[in-house]
Amino acid sequence: MSFIATRLIHWHQVYGRHHLPWQGNRDPYAIWLSEIMLQQTQVNTVIPYYVRFMQTFPTVNSLAQAPLDAVLTLWSGLGYYSRARNLHQAARLIMQDHQGQFPRNRILIEQLPGIGRSTAAAIAVFAYSKREAILDGNVKRIFTRYFGIEGYPGESKIQNLLWEKAEELLPVDHGAGRIETYTQALMDLGATVCKRHTPLCEICPLQQHCVAFQENRVNQLPTAKQRKPLPQKETVFLLLMHQQKLLLEKRPSSGIWGELWCPPETETGVDIASYCHDHLGIQIQSAIQLPALDHQFTHYKLRIHPQLLSVTSGSFIEKNEFIWIKPCDALERAIPTPVRKLLKHNFLSNHHTLTI
Ligand code: ADE
Repeated sequence: MSFIATRLIHWHQVYGRHHLPWQGNRDPYAIWLSEIMLQQTQVNTVIPYYVRFMQTFPTVNSLAQAPLDAVLTLWSGLGYYSRARNLHQAARLIMQDHQGQFPRNRILIEQLPGIGRSTAAAIAVFAYSKREAILDGNVKRIFTRYFGIEGYPGESKIQNLLWEKAEELLPVDHGAGRIETYTQALMDLGATVCKRHTPLCEICPLQQHCVAFQENRVNQLPTAKQRKPLPQKETVFLLLMHQQKLLLEKRPSSGIWGELWCPPETETGVDIASYCHDHLGIQIQSAIQLPALDHQFTHYKLRIHPQLLSVTSGSFIEKNEFIWIKPCDALERAIPTPVRKLLKHNFLSNHHTLTI
């Protein structure tokens, strides 16, 4: 067996994580859910979301039958909501095309929406003990350092090389949970020892053969992407209040925050009273500009200018896509993180409660 596999398996027995809520479970649905939640989110953040999700939707069938809004509500605050939309769509596909049985090998798993090669491999390993290689961000970091590989790991040449290494290093298949332990060990080493910032090389089981450690290049690897500064966009959130209720609008399914509930939006520089009159059929009485809120997406930064507006009258909209809701009840809905922050800071904290 490779030096890495032997070392990692021993290391994991002593220092790995053994009590995460999705461990000790062979249910592919539970494992799939955990892997999707863990794709862009840290373990400690994921745990309460995972537990609640499994309580609400314990099976593929229960998820497939749920309305998307209920799924997004449970996801609210985790971010990257296309993960939840894909999960829901994949559950429906499993019911329709796979007779409700989760596919049993990596190639078939990978065809479901939202599941790439590494996630499919992780599910195949943990649910079915398949001998498959993973290559997520943690593993890329470990291998680029261990082998001293320069170049941005997202580049296809580097990526292909890393996949080759990942395949070569897999432990030989002797059953007894070895592939599962090895895979979990890679994830745990990346998360707890071979960390991006402040890696703990002094306690690393791979230190002896790690090229980056020997050459004092740990902090230079993996090579960062050549980044242009992210563009900055601006928007105005219209926090329209009437009889202690706030107007929220369901966003279209494509674009950011698809199908999540947000206040109506407009561009900066427009006349707000005319906008509300012309587009929403609403008369406003007073406006208070609240402090701007910054939010970062993968591809741009968004500065939100919230305006607190008191509504006097109007032909109140009763369309499906709009709801008047108490701010405290809005927290129970599928809302994105900046809306949650705005609600908490401006309507619900004891010190800053605004009445209008
Ligand atoms: N990151 C991705 N998958 C994981 C898992 N199964 N356990 C811990 N961290 C992970």
